Amino acid sequence: MNRPTAGNHAPSRRKRLGLVEPTTKAVVPPLHLATTFVRDPDNQYRAGYAYGRPDNATTRHAEAVLAALEEAHEAALFGSGMAAATAIVLALPPSSHIVASQVMYWAFRHWLANEAPRRGHRVDFVDSADLAAVSAAIKPGSTKLVYVETPGNPLWTISDIGAVAEVAHAAGARLAVDSTVATPVFTRPLRLGADMVMHSASKYLNGHSDVIAGVVAAARPGEAWERVKTMRTQFGAVIGPFEAWLLLRGLRTLDVRVKTQAASAMLIAARLAQHEQVASVLYPGPPGASWSCGCGAPNERGIRRDAVHPGQGRRKRRHRHRGAKVRLWKRATSLGGVREPGSSTAPRSRVRARHARPIYCDFRSAWRILTISRAISTRR
Ligand SMILES: Cc1ncc(COP(=O)(O)O)c(C=O)c1O
Repeated sequence: MNRPTAGNHAPSRRKRLGLVEPTTKAVVPPLHLATTFVRDPDNQYRAGYAYGRPDNATTRHAEAVLAALEEAHEAALFGSGMAAATAIVLALPPSSHIVASQVMYWAFRHWLANEAPRRGHRVDFVDSADLAAVSAAIKPGSTKLVYVETPGNPLWTISDIGAVAEVAHAAGARLAVDSTVATPVFTRPLRLGADMVMHSASKYLNGHSDVIAGVVAAARPGEAWERVKTMRTQFGAVIGPFEAWLLLRGLRTLDVRVKTQAASAMLIAARLAQHEQVASVLYPGPPGASWSCGCGAPNERGIRRDAVHPGQGRRKRRHRHRGAKVRLWKRATSLGGVREPGSSTAPRSRVRARHARPIYCDFRSAWRILTISRAISTRR
């Protein structure tokens, strides 16, 4: 069956990103909702669509765009980032050994620690920024997967994808990278040697806080990739067509959104680092940045990866209290959406000054309110 997936219907990269609907010449693609398709007289489905779970044209369009962005052989969309990440593990042979980043999205870490062993897998968590630790954890022959999240949520730990790929491959293991935070705007893990790249598309890829989705993209065809796609189809972990359509909408502004968010983040990090009450800024800063604020020595590649935790008890409550005073910042779970003022789609040069400053000032005035109210309550 000739399925128009990213792999075997490969229009040029430009065409995938800027497709015009041929019948009407619409610049926005149609939304395909059909769950079933008419057979040919001899019972075949030559158009490549048989049933909505594995086959949807809107989903395939979004997958083709994502495959182009990641320079992948093919991409597969899932109903969530968790579904995408777990499919990579569920696709492994039984009783595989897995080496995974210590710092990673907490729910997937929990799944690896608690659910993967029920399927016979053994998982070792390591500091994936430390290549020697990764090498020491890999067991040649039995390690089937090295799973790295970089930058790692929530400490933004940076791992060297190319170097980890080399040690993984030398031991016969595959490397999968959760690149949710970097996005293809800043990092293309397949180009650096990873075998698969995964995203929570609920974050920057969609960028509008209105879609839950995940994607896995593979460097090359093969049995491992076919197994991932089989997990998706047979567990039914598919994305709905409307979510795929919304994701396509979000992807059109990916580049400008992410570059603007990064520019704002750097400015805010630099200013926070100069604030006399800030002990440490969680930011994967460039080597030798003048605003680094004593939050740990740079690692051998010049990247700081130390962190200060909000602490326990009173200290933690005080941090929460301060958080509640901000007005522009939206205190909500998740990342990568446009509700934060720093992610406006205005041109970057204007945004740098115009949007990062109000966010920082918002934080600073929340701090002042807290300091004043604490002073009043201690006087009482
Ligand atoms: C880095 C990272 N990976 C994966 C996930 C899981 O994605 P989802 O919420 O779409 O299932 C998240 C969610 O916050 C995340 O931050």
